[in-house]
Amino acid sequence: MLAAVVASTTALLFCVALVAAPGYGQSVTGHWAARGGKLDNGEAKKVILDLTQTGSDVKGKIAMMGGDTDVNGTVKGSHFELCGFGDKKPFIVGDVVSGGLHLTMWGDPYVAKPATQADALHKPRYIAPPSLHEVAGNGLAKTPPMGWNSWNLFESKIDDQTVRTMADAMVSSGMRDAGYIYVNIDDTWEGVRDAKGNLRPNHKFPDMKALADYVHSKGLKLGIYSSPGPRTCGGYPATYGHETQDAKTFAAWGIDYLKYDWCSAGTLYKTEQLQPVYQKMGDALEATGRPIVYSLCEYGMGNVEKWGAKVGANLWRTTGDINDSWESMMRNVVQQVPTAPYAGPGHWNDPDMLEIGNGHMTDDEYRTHMSLWALTSAPLLAGNDVRTMTDATKAILLNKEVIAIDQDPLGKQASPVKNGELEMWTKPLADGGVAVGVVNLGSAAAQATVNASGLQLGGAVKSARDLWAHADVEFTGGAYSATVPSHGVLLLKVSAK
Ligand code: GLA
Repeated sequence: MLAAVVASTTALLFCVALVAAPGYGQSVTGHWAARGGKLDNGEAKKVILDLTQTGSDVKGKIAMMGGDTDVNGTVKGSHFELCGFGDKKPFIVGDVVSGGLHLTMWGDPYVAKPATQADALHKPRYIAPPSLHEVAGNGLAKTPPMGWNSWNLFESKIDDQTVRTMADAMVSSGMRDAGYIYVNIDDTWEGVRDAKGNLRPNHKFPDMKALADYVHSKGLKLGIYSSPGPRTCGGYPATYGHETQDAKTFAAWGIDYLKYDWCSAGTLYKTEQLQPVYQKMGDALEATGRPIVYSLCEYGMGNVEKWGAKVGANLWRTTGDINDSWESMMRNVVQQVPTAPYAGPGHWNDPDMLEIGNGHMTDDEYRTHMSLWALTSAPLLAGNDVRTMTDATKAILLNKEVIAIDQDPLGKQASPVKNGELEMWTKPLADGGVAVGVVNLGSAAAQATVNASGLQLGGAVKSARDLWAHADVEFTGGAYSATVPSHGVLLLKVSAK
């Protein structure tokens, strides 16, 4: 929701393009306090906007419960639109009205009035992060974690019943047996803290321990979400100042995986403090004695790939949030590339969760998505509705030959070599073979040729297999050629004699 903390200048270009021409209206300039509906835990939603309008342009800062972001936008007449980060759509649209602003933010209505001092968002006392040391590895995630996460499709519309039915479907669809074992609850599960400071779930999750027991009874594992800041990106209470207590609570519930999302930590800490802040939770998780996969989410800031393993993490996001589009998916792939040297058993670069099956890419594009995640040894966290998968989605997510490339025990992360519109990715495998992917970035089908000599195989080609066609193929004269559709992929496993 709020990778907004990482403001993007490209957003300005997109945002301006949305409003055709300047008009004349009242100004949006001001220091505004906006109030909206309620979070799922009953707390009121509040936002502070500091906006300055110059002509038809607006610039400013938005302080949300989940963190701050810079915004850019435009005004036409009384209507304004604001973008915060590299998204094509403004996340705030509204109108100047008498005495204030009416706006919707991520679809939720707010009314803004001139802010007074009493409106300021609560900022807790600063807690200095600990000095650095290395957290011992937890021995988990020897191969990239696989499972399902609620965020991409459900966002805040996630509850106990949905998680249970999703767990059922992970079993009946064959996802669990294919290796997808983590069922991860993302943001918006949080309630408020009780008198002793224990974080409770909100009404959507009446009994987290009972839910964990249910998920475990299906041979699956349960994941949860929090932030090192005082609030999650969605504005819910988070772990700041309660690291040991929350880690114990999660362990007592039977949690097996924690996604720990920077969000409002950015209002208290600087990028240079990412490592000690994340180390604090690494220590707290280790102290519980429960095996809990530790997943960092800070959008790739501060070269996380270089220190993520030292805070005890098993994976770390290398990118901003994915959405269900070719552009977003490929943008994340580009950001994953420089992190290649740092992937390996127990610690993985995470270009975000899968969008396969969510309906806005073609099947060719989804095959490319799955192939690139497998080639780059990325975690495979499905983000679709597993209860209602089409056969085409199943054939992609459940392609065991492609999953085996992702899960190869050597744990190497492929890097690309570009040749015109074709991009070739090569991943060395534990058995001495290689996985080769050729992605067609162009808008027309293209002929791809894979030369055995370029693959750094230990010997001549013994056998080769097209992992999407599920068919053996022949290298003749040391090469194999095939037509790759626009945005499609050729994915081979090549074995040496
Ligand atoms: C951030 C993360 C997302 C998701 C949302 C939840 O934007 O990057 O993956 O967890 O927060 O609010």
